[in-house]
Formats: sequence, structure tokens, C-alpha cells
Amino acid sequence: GGVVTLDPGYKNTGACESAITFLDGEKGVLRYRGYAIEELAEKAHFLEVCYLLIFGELPTEVQLNKFHEDIKAQSHVDEDVKRILDGFPKAAHPMGVLSSLTSALVAFNPSSVNVDSEEDMYKAIVKILGKFPVLTAWTYRKRMGLPLDYGGDTLGYVDNFLKMMFKKPSGDYTTNEIVLKALDKLLILHADHEQNCSTSTVRIVGSSHAGLFVSISAGIAALWGPLHGGANQAVIEMLEEIKADGGDTKKFMAKAKDKNDPFRLMGFGHRVYKNFDPRAKIIKKAADDVLENLGIQDDILDIAKALEKEALEDPYFVERKLYPNVDFYSGIIYRALGIPVEMFTPMFALGRLPGWIAQWREMRLNKEPIGRPRQIYIGEKLREFKTVEKR
Ligand code: CMC
Repeated sequence: GGVVTLDPGYKNTGACESAITFLDGEKGVLRYRGYAIEELAEKAHFLEVCYLLIFGELPTEVQLNKFHEDIKAQSHVDEDVKRILDGFPKAAHPMGVLSSLTSALVAFNPSSVNVDSEEDMYKAIVKILGKFPVLTAWTYRKRMGLPLDYGGDTLGYVDNFLKMMFKKPSGDYTTNEIVLKALDKLLILHADHEQNCSTSTVRIVGSSHAGLFVSISAGIAALWGPLHGGANQAVIEMLEEIKADGGDTKKFMAKAKDKNDPFRLMGFGHRVYKNFDPRAKIIKKAADDVLENLGIQDDILDIAKALEKEALEDPYFVERKLYPNVDFYSGIIYRALGIPVEMFTPMFALGRLPGWIAQWREMRLNKEPIGRPRQIYIGEKLREFKTVEKR
């Protein structure tokens, strides 16, 4: 019963009340639990931000250490997971592999599904925070034909991840502070973004009381698409294409504006930011800093800047309030850090993990009802069935 309001893409429909992330799309404001994204990106560490998003407050030193120890105690995956990973072709897209492995984790950790108490939730949360970086690094190493193993118990969360990714088969690994800081910042900037496509997916899957891991697995699948997290890969592929084509940005601008051409300027536009994306501002500067500090000259950055400048002056983009989003410059940094393009969206997933967890936990603690949108039926009226020989 009741009147159903139609709102494709939920452009104006609120699905929940949330105390996690504040976003003002007109003013370009983003805050996690009341803290400005600019300040967090500058001063906080990723693991502190994870804690903040999930539990609502910045941790004390004691709380942070305990959280980290609890995660470290769960930072291993069953050796049999290597056999599953082995079954995937090397060329498989890492997002598909990661989504599958994340759901497979349930089979190895069946108790993670029963989360009726906050204590059980906590156990599932530290497990996924511990194991997901391992799955991400292993997915990368398998692709590269490198041995699958672990980082080090004495390292920080992000440093440990970098070591798992880049350690040589000999075990050698040296921390590069610039790389570490840049990745930490990127992960913070990606950590939550209220009710976006993947987060809404996590909440809706979790609302059926399926466990945390499968809800995250579904979130990874949603993030994969080029209109969402997959845009960071698509941006670099687009910039490469422009470069290979001779660097004529105007030609690609024209394609983006042509309504008969499906091409869109990847990394541009946003459902809620209609002024600027505050994350893009921080990332653009970080891209400049990282390239300069690492002494890298990348033509692609110049193409990106030219494209941005043209778009910001172009009536088509101005009228539609299309600005560079978080994905426009992030890939340039990932590239400079030595991360291959297919791993860009997995990096986004690693960053978004605490946001997905926080939103899932909030949804369960608020005892939200199962997510179940309505529809307006526009199909056939009642018809009479004819057996196959009479059709
Ligand atoms: N290039 C060219 N035209 C665009 C673009 C673009 N990137 N984005 C939007 N438009 C046009 C669109 O064609 C439409 O024009 P018209 O009014 O003439 O029909 C108008 O702008 C409004 O676009 P929309 O598709 O109705 O807006 P939406 O809120 O449904 O979509 C979006 C938002 C992000 C999916 C879209 O802007 C897009 O496809 N951008 C490119 C992909 C991208 O960068 N995605 C990353 C999003 S940010 C982080 C994340 O989620 O990962």
C-alpha cells in the first residue's frame, strides 16, 4: 500500500540517518565525524582515521595501540586461500579476485557472521582490517608472479601493507617516507564518503543480516565500476590514450560534450559536489609534491592539468557544474608510487574499507530495517498463458 515516489538513482532520497560523514556538495565541505578532511589529511594517520570513522572518536594512544595489536593478531589468512588465488588466471582483474577472496574469507572464519553483540562485531572488524591488506597485496603479487608472504609485526598498518606489496623475493624492503606519507594521505581521503554506491551496497546487503565480509565483498563489486571507483583506472587509461593520440586535449573535450558519443571525461563530475571536490584539491597538490619529491617527470600530469583548465573554462562543464573529482589526480600519484594501473581501484577499496565497516556497524547498531526499495510497475496487464505449441 501507500504512494510510491519514483527517484531513479536515489538522487533525492535519504536512506538512513548517519553520524559518520558530513558532506556539503554546494560548498565543497567534507568532514569525518566532525573533523575537516583537510586537517585529517594533513595531520592524522590512516589507522587513526579508521578508528575515528568506526568508533566515532579519535583514539587515545592506548586505544590506538590496542586496536593495532588486535588487527595485527588477525593479519594472516589461511594458507588454503593461496590455492583459491592460484585458480584465477594471472590476467584476472584484481577487483574481481578481491571481491571473491573477501567472500571466501567467510568460509575460513564462519564465526564472523554472528554479530549480535558489539564484541562480536569488533572481532569481525579487526579480522577484515587485518586480512584485507594481505588479500590485496597477494592479489598484486600473484599477478606479478611474486611469492606470497607477509610484512612485519613491528611496522605500522600502511607501512606493513607497502612491505607486503613491494618486498623483494629476497625479503629486502626499504621504507620510502615520501611514498608512505603519500599513500597514507590517499587512503585517508578515500576512507568514507557517506551514502555512495558501494557504501549503500554494503548497508543494503548487511541489512539482511548477511555478515560483514560478504557485505564488504558486495561493496568491492560496486566500487569496481568505471562510474564509481573504477574511474581512477579509467582516468589514466584516458590520459594515456590522449597522449598516444598526440596530446590534443581539445579533441577529447569535444568528444566528451558530444551527446552521440558515449565518451565521458573520466574523473569529472560528481553526484553531490557541484562546486568542487575538496579531496581533488588536496590530491592535486599531493600529486605535484610527490612527483617533485621523487624526481619524476610525467607527461600525463601535464595533460591532466591542461584538460582540467579547459574544462573549467568550458560552458558545457560550467553549466553542468562538472569539476575534477577525487579520481582525477589519484592515479597519477599511484603511478608515481609504482602501483600498476589495474591496482588503482583495489587501492581505493583499501582506503574505503573503514568507511564501509563504519557504515555497516552503524546500520546494525541502529537496528535498521532490511533495505527494500519499491517500484512503479509499467509491464503487461494480466495475460492468459498459452502452452508452447500455441505460441
Ligand atoms: N563528461 C561529460 N559529461 C558529463 C560528465 C563527464 N564526466 N559527467 C556528467 N556529465 C553530463 C551528463 O552527460 C549530463 O548532461 P545532460 O544534462 O546534458 O544530460 C550532466 O552532465 C549530468 O550528469 P549525470 O550523469 O546525470 O550525473 P550523475 O550524478 O548521474 O553522475 C557521475 C555522476 C560521477 C557518475 C558522472 O559525472 C560521471 O559519469 N563522471 C565520470 C566518471 C567518474 O569520474 N566517476 C567518479 C566519481 S567520484 C568518486 C567515485 O565515486 O569513485
